[in-house]
Amino acid sequence: MNHKSRILRSGLFGPKKSGKMMQNEDKVGGMKSASKPRTAVIILAAGLGKRMASSLPKVLIPVCGRPMLFQILDRLQEVAPGTRVNLVVGHQKERVIESVAVERYELKIDFTEQSEQKGTGHAVRCAMESDWGAATLKAKEDVLVLPGDLPLITGDLIRDMLEPLKRGSAMRLLTATLPDPTGYGRIVRKGKAGSVLRIVEEKDATPREKLLNEVGVSIYTFAPQFLATGVASLKNTNAQKEYYLTDLIAQAVSKKRTIETLSWESPDDVRGVNNPYELSLAADLLNARILKGHALNGVRFVSLHSCRIEPCVRIEPDVTIYPGVILEGQTRIGKGTVIGPNSLLKNTTVGEGVEIKSGTVAEESVIGNSVKVGPYAHLRPGSAVRQGAKIGNFVELKKTVIGENTSVAHLSYLGDAEVGKNVNIGCGFITCNFDGRIIDGSRKHKTVIEDEVFVGSDCQTVAPVTLKRGSFVASGSTITETVEADALAIARTRQVVKPGYAKKLRGQG
Ligand code: UD1
Ligand code: CA
Repeated sequence: MNHKSRILRSGLFGPKKSGKMMQNEDKVGGMKSASKPRTAVIILAAGLGKRMASSLPKVLIPVCGRPMLFQILDRLQEVAPGTRVNLVVGHQKERVIESVAVERYELKIDFTEQSEQKGTGHAVRCAMESDWGAATLKAKEDVLVLPGDLPLITGDLIRDMLEPLKRGSAMRLLTATLPDPTGYGRIVRKGKAGSVLRIVEEKDATPREKLLNEVGVSIYTFAPQFLATGVASLKNTNAQKEYYLTDLIAQAVSKKRTIETLSWESPDDVRGVNNPYELSLAADLLNARILKGHALNGVRFVSLHSCRIEPCVRIEPDVTIYPGVILEGQTRIGKGTVIGPNSLLKNTTVGEGVEIKSGTVAEESVIGNSVKVGPYAHLRPGSAVRQGAKIGNFVELKKTVIGENTSVAHLSYLGDAEVGKNVNIGCGFITCNFDGRIIDGSRKHKTVIEDEVFVGSDCQTVAPVTLKRGSFVASGSTITETVEADALAIARTRQVVKPGYAKKLRGQG
């Protein structure tokens, strides 16, 4: 086979290559392993993922808001920070490399390019024939191989597979028993429960073999020399004309080498994602796992399964969450807070004792302690609502700070505004922050409302403008100029009353 593999960014996220490749390897899965080096990891992430029908490379497709590859790296970092990792990349490799770089993992990540996707065995061959592979062989590190499309993998599973192989073993094979094994490679054993003989891929399996429901899930730990020699001698004489990594099992058997097996009891942990349907199934499972974690940690869900919470969200105990709530990104919720039905919070920090009512949407915003928000409030990016303030129904904020104990109770829009403490904004207030002109490169202008200001109902301020401390704006005013401290501003036409005129209009007078 034609091997075009090369290291793309050797040591970019780890120490420079040198003879000293064996630092930090004193602990494996919490066990001291003085004589055995720690296990290195190859993650297969070059595939096209054609069935996903996505413009993103498959491994970057989010499951519960986080790319599946990151979920694998997250778990690996949790159980074994500092591990040497080789990511085999191909399809949209730049995008994969850049996305991983941004995450700043505490793992030593190298990349190997597999320029043509000729199968899982070929992908591993590319990694083992790279400088990274040479260093791995030299250091005699066992190699854990993981596919990039198992977002539900757990830290426990990775920890078990990182355990060094027994002396003389060629490999450790993880298997799972699935009620519906369609699509997976089947484990063929000697007799019913005898030793493993080989893995047969779905497309190559006989009808009888297809009935087997013990499967391989592309997770193995290999002795380094066995792996390097094995992948170099693979043939692609199979239904898909691919170099199958799974063929290494039959190789080990024919070489009379020991195969350790680990049968994994929770098949959900090793669910592959190969199409949008499996993606949704995986997202549901991951979400259920996340919700269970929060619930056991003291979060009360009025109805568990209608809520979606992404993995990076943090929630303190004694929080109540109503049905239909979606919490995304780096959202943080402080204790004692209640989040009402169908609210969506993204990258938003919420303090303690906050009351968020139905249908509130907040993004990139900060909500202080004891604040009340909603129902149907919209906090757009860059908004901050300080302690004790109230944002009522149908209020929209954008890049706006609302000071302590200030009230914006009904039907208002505030954009690019700075509002002080103890301010009262009446119903139907609008900061006219865009006047159609561009000043100093900006199309939006600032409104400043200082502490203790009272704005009556149905007012507008045309920015840039300032309402100084303690000033009072009469209802129905359109304010275009500074209102001085403690002044009263009235900007509306005087009322005219014509006695009896209504009767005349009705033709009665
Ligand atoms: C593979 C296994 C199958 C197992 C299943 C479990 C083989 C031959 N088959 O099948 O036994 O039950 O996983 O999930 O190994 N990849 C590359 N380069 C390639 C081909 C694939 O990097 O040339 C990567 C993919 O990006 C993916 C992983 O390897 O992350 C698995 O590839 P995929 O095509 O999904 O393999 P399956 O057909 O699912
Ligand atoms: Ca797969």
